[in-house]
Amino acid sequence: MPRGNDQTHFGYETVPLDDKQERVDEVFHSVARRYDLMNDLMSGGLHRAWKDALVTAVNPPKSAREFAVLDLAGGTGDVAFRIAQSGGHSTRVTVGDSNAAMLEVGQARAAERGLDRVVTFEQGNAEELVYPDRSFDCVTIAFGIRNVPRIERALAQAYRVLKHGGRFLCLEFSSVDMPGLDALYELYSFQVIPRIGEAVTGDREAYQYLVESIRKFPKPKVFAAMIEAAGFRRAIFTPMTGGVVALHSGWRL
Ligand SMILES: C[S@@+](CC[C@H](N)C(=O)[O-])C[C@H]1O[C@@H](n2cnc3c(N)ncnc32)[C@H](O)[C@@H]1O
Repeated sequence: MPRGNDQTHFGYETVPLDDKQERVDEVFHSVARRYDLMNDLMSGGLHRAWKDALVTAVNPPKSAREFAVLDLAGGTGDVAFRIAQSGGHSTRVTVGDSNAAMLEVGQARAAERGLDRVVTFEQGNAEELVYPDRSFDCVTIAFGIRNVPRIERALAQAYRVLKHGGRFLCLEFSSVDMPGLDALYELYSFQVIPRIGEAVTGDREAYQYLVESIRKFPKPKVFAAMIEAAGFRRAIFTPMTGGVVALHSGWRL
């Protein structure tokens, strides 16, 4: 198939739009086995609090009411497990991710935790979801959207598969705008994270990509406007930890 001429960013590198997914898949294939350990090391455990804030916003019913969640770019299942454990016994979570290696780790973790009947893992691209229209009560994506080459398509798909009254929640690295913290964060990101990545996974480039991709992601107001442009209403965002991450929300109404 002929390649298109459109360009995008893979970290700081400019690459053909059609090549980005393959590059992203290589990154997560390479780090899958050490992915969860790295999250703890890099964030000093903070990613747990950020994910818990996401789960609080999902607010799965504690009752027996059926509640279907799609966790896009759900990787090794960390967010899905938290949602499943916080909801009642009719809460179900589908983890959709493009990367077989990440899903394999997730499936093994689900079995270890006895959650394999509640959380299911399915390989797929967030830009081309195979699920029927209006099939989920909530769609989540944590630290995934900046890796997706065509963000507008993924947002449109999230909107399509959400039921009326359903909520889209996206946790993503954002822009630190706290004087003092910004310089420290910059230093930590570029001097420390790639080194930890190299020591733990043997893949420095993967973590160099991570920090660069964060800098290239749209500012939170711009991303909120993209969420609205996809059809969502009441798009808001809540910065956390001085803007290191933001929790974005939009409703299908
Ligand atoms: C930083 S990890 C986040 C994993 C998980 N959500 C978490 O918070 O621990 C990013 C994930 O996005 C997935 N991904 C990248 N591009 C994707 C796409 N187009 N569709 C679905 N998943 C994608 C990667 O395979 C990877 O598992």
